[in-house]
Amino acid sequence: NIRYLNYRPLYHFSPDTMWMNDPNGLVYYDQEYHLFFQHYPYDKKAMNIHWGHAVSKDLITWTQLPIALPPEDAVAGIWSGSAFVDWNNASGFQKNHNTKPLIAIYTHQKHGHQEQHMAYSNDRGRTWTKYVNNPILPMHSIDSKSTEENDNILTLVHPVFRDPKVFYHYETESWILVVSGGTHVKFYRSDNLVNWKLMSEWGKEHYSKTHPGVWECPDLFKMETEQDKNVWVLIISINRNSVSGGSGMQYFVGTFDGVQFTLNSKSLNTSLWLDYGPDYYAGITYSDIPHYDNRRIMISWMNNWLYGRDLPTSVWCGQMGIPRSLKLYIDHYTNSYRLSQQPVIELYHYQRKLISFHRQMIHQGSNLLENILGVTYIITASFNLNTSIFNCQTCELGFQFRKSSENMKEYKEYTTIRYVPYNNTIYFDRSQSGETRFHSGFRTNYNITLDDEVFDKGLLKFQILVDRLSVELFINDGKYAFTALIFPDFNSQNMALFTNGADVMIDYADILLL
Ligand code: FRU
Repeated sequence: NIRYLNYRPLYHFSPDTMWMNDPNGLVYYDQEYHLFFQHYPYDKKAMNIHWGHAVSKDLITWTQLPIALPPEDAVAGIWSGSAFVDWNNASGFQKNHNTKPLIAIYTHQKHGHQEQHMAYSNDRGRTWTKYVNNPILPMHSIDSKSTEENDNILTLVHPVFRDPKVFYHYETESWILVVSGGTHVKFYRSDNLVNWKLMSEWGKEHYSKTHPGVWECPDLFKMETEQDKNVWVLIISINRNSVSGGSGMQYFVGTFDGVQFTLNSKSLNTSLWLDYGPDYYAGITYSDIPHYDNRRIMISWMNNWLYGRDLPTSVWCGQMGIPRSLKLYIDHYTNSYRLSQQPVIELYHYQRKLISFHRQMIHQGSNLLENILGVTYIITASFNLNTSIFNCQTCELGFQFRKSSENMKEYKEYTTIRYVPYNNTIYFDRSQSGETRFHSGFRTNYNITLDDEVFDKGLLKFQILVDRLSVELFINDGKYAFTALIFPDFNSQNMALFTNGADVMIDYADILLL
């Protein structure tokens, strides 16, 4: 079916064929970004999971390599985990003088029994050897009361002990492993990567009863702000009941001393959402990005466990969100720490054509982008809104993407992002975006109310990434992010920038066709 084949994303990673979920083992080594991923290579369904593998020089164009880690039999699974470079051969696994070992630490699961295993590679990730004395963290060290109370078929009712993320903690000169216990995370410490000691647990009191769901895929890393060089961000995925329904990602800001994580008073004692859309999950960040680069880069699975097994894609199922660079800042409106997110700069090297508008009035009912066609593109647009518009109840401005041509009378398709100044809210609507009926859980309408900064300053900036099956929205330099899948017809290539209720001046709008 030609229509389905056309959902293959252009600049987002998807496996050549078959099932994919979480990104795993994100590590940079010897000029290559590695992306391992939860993969079932024999079906479009999530069965016993393997680690698939892809490499890239720039995080945008990927080459898929053979399976990195297969499970030992048809009922075991190699679940999520991390990878890193063992620069000083702490593990003792190094074989070649000039090549550092890559270490993978992941969850081995069988009949619901989850434990942490290790594997290593001495050939730049091409082949892997499982450590002979696995597990490095056996199941019995966990609190068996933390069972899952979820409807995720993959994980049924078993104690949760999974998704280890390992990093080197310079301050205490030790390796730290953070892993999910379902309703909390656990921190372990090691000198040799093989023997681990439990240091602390965190989160039971923050595991919110208003968002029940299992915590998965934790990540912990240090960030700098202008005021403070030692702030730690703990990222957690929650597999249901998140901000947009189903799976979503939270973060907490605090300190970490090698033993325990403590929330910072400027983190408002609460969790924040990393992305407000329905399709951003299980994100983790890269290990071993060179110091001269110093970016904190995240990749996530662009999907949702609610309906993600039934996407109407052809020979594969699953795709990654655009790699994002994260920054921490103090938000003066809430006097709290926030993460901002931007697509990695490498994406912009793929620009094929640029169409720009400057200081132009958009008249009510007209469409500034009327004559532009595109399937895969980035829009950056900035408004300096007049204060009067915030008192107008019927005023709005917005965009439409993957819109069917006006000549198609009987078939109307489009995805809409609207901003209503009166209540300072962004509305996302994918109800007319194409295929929406493949699963009853595929909700189509979402909104985000922005904080008062936009009211006060009138500044509103959009960055919108459109690909064959997705829209990613970044507002005000990535202060808010929103990710959603769409399944439009390939021929729906029109777009719109519109206003209603008032004429609105645009500072600029750049359309980069990719
Ligand atoms: C998150 C997750 C992880 C688990 C993996 C299994 O999406 O449920 O917790 O390790 O997927 O594929």
